Amino acid sequence: MDAGLRERLLGIVGPQGLVDDAAAERYLTDERNRYHGRAAAVVLPGSTRELAAVMALCHAADVGMVPQGGNTGYCGGATPNASGEEVLIVLSRLNRVRAVDPLSGTITVEAGVVLADAQRAAAEHGLLLPLSMGSEGSCQIGGNLSTNAGGLAVLRYGTARELVLGLEVVLPDGRIWDGLTALRKDNTGYDLKQLFLGAEGTLGIISAAVLKLFPMPAARETAWLAVRDLEAACALLRLARQVVGDVVTSFEYVTRPSLELALAAMSRLRDPLDAAYEHYVLLECSASGATGALGEAVSGLFESALEAGLAEDGVIAATGVHRAALWALRENVPAGEKAAGGSVKHDVSVAIARLPELAARAAAAVAAVAPAARLSVYGHIGDGNLHFNVLAPAGADPEAFRAAHGEAVSAAVHGAAAALAGSFSAEHGVGQLKRDLLAATESSLALEIMRGIKHVLDPKGVMNPGKVL
Ligand code: MLT
Ligand code: ZN
Repeated sequence: MDAGLRERLLGIVGPQGLVDDAAAERYLTDERNRYHGRAAAVVLPGSTRELAAVMALCHAADVGMVPQGGNTGYCGGATPNASGEEVLIVLSRLNRVRAVDPLSGTITVEAGVVLADAQRAAAEHGLLLPLSMGSEGSCQIGGNLSTNAGGLAVLRYGTARELVLGLEVVLPDGRIWDGLTALRKDNTGYDLKQLFLGAEGTLGIISAAVLKLFPMPAARETAWLAVRDLEAACALLRLARQVVGDVVTSFEYVTRPSLELALAAMSRLRDPLDAAYEHYVLLECSASGATGALGEAVSGLFESALEAGLAEDGVIAATGVHRAALWALRENVPAGEKAAGGSVKHDVSVAIARLPELAARAAAAVAAVAPAARLSVYGHIGDGNLHFNVLAPAGADPEAFRAAHGEAVSAAVHGAAAALAGSFSAEHGVGQLKRDLLAATESSLALEIMRGIKHVLDPKGVMNPGKVL
């Protein structure tokens, strides 16, 4: 990098927008502590204009740019490489909620707005921003959209992509594409925003978005149910949608080992049931408007599930505090794994009907390569998405286990998903972690199209180099 570039960056963003070396470290390591990058500069632009000027400068100088939001991703998509030549562009100062329009049901937010802050801004108007996930206190909208994040309410409201009406994007050369429309219907040509959603910053940087809002639920019913097995859990999902209808908002799955990891890590958590079971479902239904019958419908579902032998036990949250305690069981599974030394994580998806077969195949395939490994299987079965995570055998060193068996274990799990026409990345993205996997498994035609799009938007290859493609 030429020595003057840092000076010129400083001229654009001012001292508050350029991180000094001592403070840069937190931006250069990823959430899972797998990737440790270096950067020529860590820049925090304070507006879309500053962002555009930074990008135009880097583009002209052929300097690679790595965008970063809340740095909560799992695939190293926001960590620069080790060369020290890339510029890391952190979006956290683009943190204004530009507008809430209650009649149109939209919120316009900048990329660096923390997801929980965007939810709060919507709630102040009695509206729901349904994107929701464990990291919502620190992840940012720009990262959510760039990775097409999933989370805990996809079943009802879709992934991040489905919540977007419009985008403002800065292209690699610094031009600003103003696609910040709030139109719910717009069939004028290609839907360009879709290119940037899930592109992990390889085509440009999302600087702002218009998102859809929904009526705030007035009633919520949350149940923690012990189910016979994963097959019963899937049958229960079908029954729930038949009995309670489209207000089933979340349908999460937790196996006993995952629950135990969460319980062991968080002393405030309690197993809500008297006996131990191998499989659990966390079900939430929510309704706005006419809500009277929701409680009855969920109790009726619970009874039917017991009668049909799908559920073996369970509890329905009686208060908001009780509901939060049930959700904490599910949401603390990743923290439980981390506290146990970490896992070989997976994020596979198949058609919902194939989930039991996926779990069985993956378990057999892992046992064949790492017979003593422990499993922690949980996830969003309402979305056909399992986190089929693999931990070191009890007493073994987690890091040594991952180094020795991580690759074979992942190949086993991904092979099981592929055999069932599934995906190796349901909601966590590709980043640098799964880039080679994408190249190895995607069809040559799909890769050709992706590379063609990349070439049109980023012919110099300066946008988040080495990620996704
Ligand atoms: C979750 O479902 O909890 C998240 O995707 C995080 C994780 O898998 O660790
Ligand atoms: Zn997940």
